[in-house]
Amino acid sequence: MERLDAIVDVASTESGSEIVTATCERCEQPFEYEQHYVRYLGETRPVPVATLCPACREAELNAQVLEEKRRRFDRAMARYRDGHLGSRLAGASFAAFLEGPHNAAALEMAQRWLGQAPRPNLLIVGPVGSGKSYLAACIHNALLAGQQPVHWLNAGSLVTRIRRGFTDPEATARANRWLENAETAPVLVLDDLGKVHPGKDVSWVEETFYGIAEARYRDELPTVVTTEWKSGALAERVGASVVSRLAHGAWAVGIDRPPTPYRRTAEAPR
Ligand SMILES: Nc1ncnc2c1ncn2[C@@H]1O[C@H](COP(=O)(O)OP(=O)(O)O)[C@@H](O)[C@H]1O
Ligand SMILES: [Mg+2]
Ligand SMILES: [Zn+2]
Repeated sequence: MERLDAIVDVASTESGSEIVTATCERCEQPFEYEQHYVRYLGETRPVPVATLCPACREAELNAQVLEEKRRRFDRAMARYRDGHLGSRLAGASFAAFLEGPHNAAALEMAQRWLGQAPRPNLLIVGPVGSGKSYLAACIHNALLAGQQPVHWLNAGSLVTRIRRGFTDPEATARANRWLENAETAPVLVLDDLGKVHPGKDVSWVEETFYGIAEARYRDELPTVVTTEWKSGALAERVGASVVSRLAHGAWAVGIDRPPTPYRRTAEAPR
């Protein structure tokens, strides 16, 4: 019968509130808030309230959101980070980027691309030594700095690894992990696509890269591609289906060799 009494009592609860002053636990400044009361079982009780001033409560919430974002990023990167970028490119940044007539358009497009939502694919085309990988690394590192997960895959390493896998199961397992990451990473940098000519049989290379391109197309995940080859020549090396998938809706930009080679001082320490 006690329960029923309690229910009846709650039904006839009286409540009220008043403005009171409290001291914030965080900044130790006084602040006013509305203290609510309820009458329950014949007793007047204050409704528990936060002990932070509005500004500190908001700061705390923002910190929680940031912390959660960082945790998600760390979880994702535990998976997408691997050794492909290399220590040389790990130091690449837009801040250190040496700009000239040969790469100004590519730089501008890369920065504009970063600001897009959603982002299309970005194709960076130019000869060896023109700074394609450096620019892609600037993008990669800017994404990381913004806690946006990104996976770097060297297309040549993948082809080599799969080829080796024809005789070495361990290499196959490794290649499959790279493939899965390449298919699912929120942003993929596919560096040096078409670097390795597959020889007479292009079909397994085409299948490999088509799998990546198709999965990313399906899930609307952007890919940054660097390559030495314009579309015709690239199609010969990785298959026309791959090129057309990657080029769909993509931004493309050319980059030329610098008039004088980059000085070694421009490189990050090894
Ligand atoms: N914009 C740039 N600013 C500073 N250094 C650069 C820049 N572009 C390229 N480099 C340097 O020039 C060299 C060749 O660049 P890289 O990106 O490897 O060329 P690619 O990938 O086109 O063959 C690297 O040592 C790189 O660090
Ligand atoms: Mg390169
Ligand atoms: Zn406060």
